Formats: sequence, C-alpha cells, structure tokens
Amino acid sequence: MSGLRLGPLEVPAPVVLAPMAGITNAAYRRLCAEQGAGLYVCEMITSRGLVEGDETTRRMLVFDEAEKVRSVQLYGTDPVYVGKATRILCEEYGVAHVDLNFGCPVPKVTRKGGGGALPWKRNLLGRILEEAVAAAAPYDVPVTMKTRKGLDDDHLTYLDAGRIAQDAGCAAIALHGRTVAQAYSGQADWDAIAALVEHVDIPVLGNGDIWEAADALRMVEQTGVAGIVVGRGCLGRPWLFRDLAAAFSDDGPGETTLPTLGEVTVMMRRHAELLCEHMGEERGCKEFRKHVTWYLKGFRAGGELRRSLGLVDSLATLDRLLADLDPAEPFPASELGAPRGRQGAPRHRVVLPEGWLDDTDGLGDGCSGVLEDVDETTGG
Ligand SMILES: Cc1cc2nc3c(=O)[nH]c(=O)nc-3n(C[C@H](O)[C@H](O)[C@H](O)COP(=O)(O)O)c2cc1C
Repeated sequence: MSGLRLGPLEVPAPVVLAPMAGITNAAYRRLCAEQGAGLYVCEMITSRGLVEGDETTRRMLVFDEAEKVRSVQLYGTDPVYVGKATRILCEEYGVAHVDLNFGCPVPKVTRKGGGGALPWKRNLLGRILEEAVAAAAPYDVPVTMKTRKGLDDDHLTYLDAGRIAQDAGCAAIALHGRTVAQAYSGQADWDAIAALVEHVDIPVLGNGDIWEAADALRMVEQTGVAGIVVGRGCLGRPWLFRDLAAAFSDDGPGETTLPTLGEVTVMMRRHAELLCEHMGEERGCKEFRKHVTWYLKGFRAGGELRRSLGLVDSLATLDRLLADLDPAEPFPASELGAPRGRQGAPRHRVVLPEGWLDDTDGLGDGCSGVLEDVDETTGG
C-alpha cells in the first residue's frame, strides 16, 4: 500500500497521528515524526479562540522547526467562525491540512451541541464544512472531518456525515468506530468503518483500537480504508510509528519494535527535552509527568521511582531518576496488543441541548443557535 492522498497533499505513509488534546503538541508530534512517516496533527484548537485572538489558543499553535507539513484540528459549531479560523490557519500559520472535530464526547461540549453531537444537525454540519472548504480553497489546503458513528446506537450519523463531507468538498473523512455514548469504552466497530468506505467516494480514514502495526494492516484489509488514525496506541510508545511506516512500506512489516528499558529511557529523555525546548524547562517537565506511567507500563520500575518521576521538575532530576532504571530490562511482552490510555465506561445518556433531537436542520433562521466557547480544549 502506498501513501495517503488528501487532495493536493501527499503523505508518504497512510498513517495519521490522531489529534489528542494535551498530548499532540509540537514536541510530541516531532518525537513521533522522528520515528516514521505520517501526518502528525496538532491538538484541537477552537475556531472562536483563534478568531478572537485568545492567548491560550495562540500558544497552542506552535510548530516545530522540523515540521514541514503543518496540520491542525479545529473545533467549531458556527460556520462563520470556522470559515474565518480556517482562513487564519492557512494565511497566517501556513498550514497544509485542516481537520474539523465532530467527535468530542465530553458532556461540557455535547451539552452545547458541539463535537460528537453536531453531526445530528445535518444542514449545520454541511454549512460548517462548506465554509471551511471555501476558506481553504484559495490556499489549496485540504479539509477533512473526524467523527464518530453517532450519538448512540439509535442515533447514528456517520453515513450521512460521509455524504455531507463529500458534497461539501472534504478531502477525506476519519471515522472513530464508537458512538458518543460509548466514549472510549468497548470495542471500536470496524464494520461501520467498512460500511462508510462503501458509502462514499472520498478517502475514509479508520480510527479505533489500533495498538500494533498488525492491527493497522488488519483494519486496512477488513475495511478498505485509505489510511489509519492512531491515538492511544502511541501513548508512551512513539516507536509505534516506526512499525507502522515499515508495515506500509514496500518491504512489508518488520519485527515489532521491542525497546529495552534503557532504550525507553532514551525516548523519555528526548520527549522531555523537546517539551522543554518548546515550553521552557518548568512547564515542559510538568507536561512530561503525564507520560511517565505510559512509558513505564508493564516494566518493573518501583513505586517510589515512578512517583518521583511523576513529580519531575527539571531535566537534571529526570536524568538522575532515569539512571536508576535497569537499562537491560526487556520490553514487557504482555503490553503488546493491550489497550492503553483512557477507556472509561459508556454513558447512560448523551447530554444534549434541549430539543436537539427534534430536527436535523440546525440552521434555524440563518443562525446556528449553537454556542461556541473560546476556551474549549477538552478534545475528543
Ligand atoms: C487524551 C485524549 C485526547 C483526545 N483529544 C481529541 C481531540 O482533541 N480531537 C479529536 O478528534 N479526538 C480526540 N481524541 C480521540 C482520538 O483522536 C481517537 O479518536 C480515539 O482515541 C480513538 O482512537 P484510538 O483507539 O486509536 O485511541 C482524544 C483521545 C484521547 C485519549
């Protein structure tokens, strides 16, 4: 299988790093990109925050000097804001790809009709996508959307969303094979991904439960997707992108990368160093703390050492603590193919604005009626 084509953009491998709020910042994207080819998407930013010049939003829009292809995910519920934000991204930030988030399951977001709730309003979804595509067109920048199967099993939206995305001129649609109600629980439904591939002519990107390169190959074989989107599988395992690039190369899949603990500590150090380069040492080390558990998952490292690493406040302390880990310890085979990151429980009901399910329009009398927050950063 060759690379991935998103309109004018050619990605050498059909592999996309899923946008993950609080994770896929410039440092992490570079760390992963150093492992293998793919499209590395920035964490989600809000359209309104960008348009109104919100400081936090602007601070998230940082790119590494080695990042040649800038790819950003936008959150938005108002076609006008999304259009303006897309133009800013293309004109001022030189992005080469804009993805739109219609999958976030967080109640704070769906309560206002955003994220995963929005595709229920078919006409509003169409308008938002059209505005983004129109704003990106003069810059020859492809727009994609990322969504879920629907609100719950009784309110599926993904097939309509695929058709709407295609009609609006989107270059691809990514489908996470879960409903909003499922959040991250249960298993991703790859049959739904296959059904979407059948339903639309634009490329479909499959997402959900890829833990190893072999899963990615299996997804392509089972569903016919044009590419895969990896989220939790690469947490504390950036080298997964090495395996994925190899799996999709002409040489075919190589051996699964099984780093010793010594090799993992080198990766940890590199990750922390990149975070510190981008954010300064204090903030960088703070950001790094959340990754420690993922890197050490399954290794024998003792509780005291883990706790200290989880409180690390300087690169010098990090070096001292990492030196206490046994470099020869082999990679824990039990972690291969095992889920990592958040899983959680399904929701009993999806929190929606009052009367949300009454119609599928969403445009009302020319106004979306959906309130967009400046500081929505909870992700998907
Ligand atoms: C910590 C975290 C943050 C996330 N943030 C976003 C986000 O900002 N935008 C988005 O579309 N999806 C977000 N997601 C969802 C992922 O992009 C992906 O769709 C999901 O994790 C399923 O893929 P996986 O099974 O490979 O993890 C997030 C997921 C996690 C675990």
